[in-house]
Amino acid sequence: MTPKPYTHKDAVPYRPLDWTGLYPPAYPKGAVPNHVALVMDGNGRWANRRGLTRIEGHRAGESTLLDVVAGAIQAGVRHLSVYAFSTENWARSPDEVRFLMGFNREVLHRRRDQLNEWGVQVRWAGRRPRLWGSVVRELEYAQRLTAGNDVLTLTMCVNYGGRVELIDAMRSIAEDVAAGRLKPSAVSEKLVQRRLYVPDMPDVDLFVRSSGEQRTSNFLLWESAYAEFVFLDTLWPDFTREHLWRAIDVYLDRDRRFGGAVDAPDTAL
Ligand code: FPP
Repeated sequence: MTPKPYTHKDAVPYRPLDWTGLYPPAYPKGAVPNHVALVMDGNGRWANRRGLTRIEGHRAGESTLLDVVAGAIQAGVRHLSVYAFSTENWARSPDEVRFLMGFNREVLHRRRDQLNEWGVQVRWAGRRPRLWGSVVRELEYAQRLTAGNDVLTLTMCVNYGGRVELIDAMRSIAEDVAAGRLKPSAVSEKLVQRRLYVPDMPDVDLFVRSSGEQRTSNFLLWESAYAEFVFLDTLWPDFTREHLWRAIDVYLDRDRRFGGAVDAPDTAL
C-alpha cells in the first residue's frame, strides 16, 4: 500500500544542502569516514531542562537530523546510520512509545522528498514484528522512492537492536544447518554478514553519540567491531552539522590499526 500523498499541512520548505552557509574543512582525500553511525541521544534531558515534556525534545530533534544529514553529504560521508528507535525503547511509557512510532512515520513522510532531492538513499534496518505497519509502509515507500540515489545512504534503524540482529542471523543460519542446506563449517564472518538486516552495509568507521553518555546501547554491534568512538557532550537537539565535523576531526587524528601493530621504538630517548 502506498502511504498517503503530501498534504499542505506536512509541507516543509526545501533547502539546499548549504542553507546554513557553513562548509566543512577541506579533508585529505579518502580520509573521511565512509560510514558514520549516530546515536541521537539527549532529547529527553534537553526538554526536561527547559520544563518541557520528553516528546517536545524528540520534536526538536527532527531538524537536527536533517542538518546532520546535509553536513554529512557536504563532508563526503557515504553512509550514515541513525538509531531512531531501539528494541529496548518499547520499555518507555506507552505515551512516549506511541509518540515515537508516529513521529518516525511523520518524519519520513515529511522529509522523504527533501532527502530524495539531495540524492539520499533511505534504507531501514530493524525487526518487523511489533513495529507499527504504518511505519513499515513509510519506510518501504521511502526506500522505493530513493532506491536510485547514491550520494549518501541513510539507514534508519527503527525497532533495531544489535543483539536481536545477531539472533535473527543465527536463527536463519541454524535453520539452514538443521535442514541440511548448510554445513556448520561453512559458517564464516562473510556468511553472518549476509544474514544481517542490511547485508551490504559497510563496517562502521566512526561511531558518534551525542549527550555525553559513553555506551553503545546495543547499536550496530557487529558492524562497529573496528569503529572509532567519539562521544560529544552536546544534547541531540543542540547538535549541528559542525558537531559532526568536529567528530570527523577527532576521527582523523586516530590511529586505526585493525588489530595490527607497527614496532617503532622512540629514538629520541
Ligand atoms: C534518544 O533521546 C532519542 C530517541 C530514542 C529518539 C530518536 C531520535 C529522534 C526522535 C530525533 C530524530 C527523529 C527521527 C524520527 C529519527 P532520549 O529520549 O534517550 O534522551 P535522554 O537520554 O535525554 O532521555
